[in-house]
Amino acid sequence: MTSSNIDFVYQNKIIKIKNSDSNETLLNYIRTKLKKTGTKEGCAEGGCGACTVVLGELKKNEINYKAINSCITFLPTLQGKQLILVEDLISKEGLLHPVQQAMVNYHGSQCGFCTPGFIMSLFSMYKANSKFRDIDIKDSIAGNLCRCTGYQPIIKAAKSLKNKNKNDQFSKNKKNIINLLKKINNKSLTIYYKEKKYFAPRYIAELKKILKTNDNVNFLSGGTDLSLVVTKERKDINSIIYMNSIKDLQYIKNNNKYIEVGASTPLIELETYIKNYYPDFTKILKRYGSPQIRNVATVAGNIATASPIGDCLPLLISLNAKVVLQDFRKEKVFFLDDFFINYRKTKLKKGQFIHSIRIPLPKDNTFRAYKISKRFDDDISSVCAAFNLEITKNKVQSVRIAYGGMAATPKRAAYCEKILLNSRVTDEIINKAKKALEKDFQPISDMRASRLYRIEVAKNLLEKFYAEIKQKKSIGVLF
Ligand SMILES: Cc1cc2nc3c(=O)[nH]c(=O)nc-3n(C[C@H](O)[C@H](O)[C@H](O)COP(=O)(O)OP(=O)(O)OC[C@H]3O[C@@H](n4cnc5c(N)ncnc54)[C@H](O)[C@@H]3O)c2cc1C
Ligand code: FES
Ligand code: FES
Repeated sequence: MTSSNIDFVYQNKIIKIKNSDSNETLLNYIRTKLKKTGTKEGCAEGGCGACTVVLGELKKNEINYKAINSCITFLPTLQGKQLILVEDLISKEGLLHPVQQAMVNYHGSQCGFCTPGFIMSLFSMYKANSKFRDIDIKDSIAGNLCRCTGYQPIIKAAKSLKNKNKNDQFSKNKKNIINLLKKINNKSLTIYYKEKKYFAPRYIAELKKILKTNDNVNFLSGGTDLSLVVTKERKDINSIIYMNSIKDLQYIKNNNKYIEVGASTPLIELETYIKNYYPDFTKILKRYGSPQIRNVATVAGNIATASPIGDCLPLLISLNAKVVLQDFRKEKVFFLDDFFINYRKTKLKKGQFIHSIRIPLPKDNTFRAYKISKRFDDDISSVCAAFNLEITKNKVQSVRIAYGGMAATPKRAAYCEKILLNSRVTDEIINKAKKALEKDFQPISDMRASRLYRIEVAKNLLEKFYAEIKQKKSIGVLF
């Protein structure tokens, strides 16, 4: 079934939006059309969390509550979902929601402007059956900036929720919302608005049909990069295909040789899944943007963006991942190593989309990854490094080292690898390998880091990796 109306659930009703501009942000709609002004605009680029709202999505007959940044969400992507705003948290009887009450009790509302965003992030954590460990609480508000440095009352408020009754009005009303979501969930969207076209197919076959006649399109996944063309550059995007509506592209499979991640799988799901295989991958993803970003952003978007500081990229290159591309006719598979041509340029051609990513699972490798950024949370890397080595009897049998932030593209450290391959791992070899990094990279200075800092940090990260594996050796795990 295809429709040109956006249907979503709001306050126990199905709302229909006709003739929508596909570039309109959800935040704009909320504030100017729904006239709900509790949700604020701070940065308009996903960085401050003032615009945080929660979306309810149907998943296996349950509602999955996700905090997102409404400032970088295009309105049509609301199709088939439930929208929850800060105004909706208060009960019919006028009682504050436990999250709101906790913020009052612990004086968590200070400037007031950022408070609705904090409330909504904490609400989504509360609904996700969090264990309310310090780490869960800090992670849940990593995408909400409090510039008056008042995090402690907010954290105390969040901690106090641990023993609160979770049977709020949303739990009581769950069945009703699930029924409404089922009514509107199974629908593809095609919107023509002035010169703009927007497609949200449900299946790959449908996507390919659209591509047959529309190859000059922008694929939209999480929109955490693409939407900034509208909100920051103030340009229009005239032709969009929304990929995250395609259910066949949302999966993670594993055949013991590799993990395959469907293009539209949100990073937050990969973060949980990959922990058992590559804990350092999860460690990096935990510091990738914020939960609001990772709830929607995808590895495919990270790869297609081809940013030299895209965090997944050095990790995937060092793991020798492959990217599977399709167009309406055929499939092509590339090693990620060969995929990045130049600054923000890849081998993707018009009409070609990323279908999936394959991450090998070799048996005897040691994988480590490190991210260096100015701020711990919600910050872009100055340097990101990934090391994937097989070492037996203290000899390097295979080595793949990749860095982000060191060149125009994420890139392997070829000279450094050459020194290490077939060598015994000693202080001397590591020092030579560190020196070789100067040959591998001539980084630039920019607002994130100077050239000298980058090269020094790159060397230090190799040293850190060495120190960690030496420690493992001493407890007899590695060599
Ligand atoms: C506040 C904030 C914090 C951020 N923090 C980080 C960070 O810590 N680390 C980091 O690496 N990045 C970060 N980013 C950048 C951004 O989140 C990533 O680049 C993200 O991976 C993009 O994924 P997406 O699904 O949102 O892509 P989108 O924005 O939807 O798309 C990005 C590009 O990929 C293309 N594309 C998307 N899907 C496909 C597909 N299936 N096939 C072909 N092309 C496709 C789009 O056309 C577009 O050109 C941050 C962004 C914001 C706004
Ligand atoms: S307004 Fe800052 S994250 Fe949306
Ligand atoms: S409470 Fe709003 S900036 Fe600190």
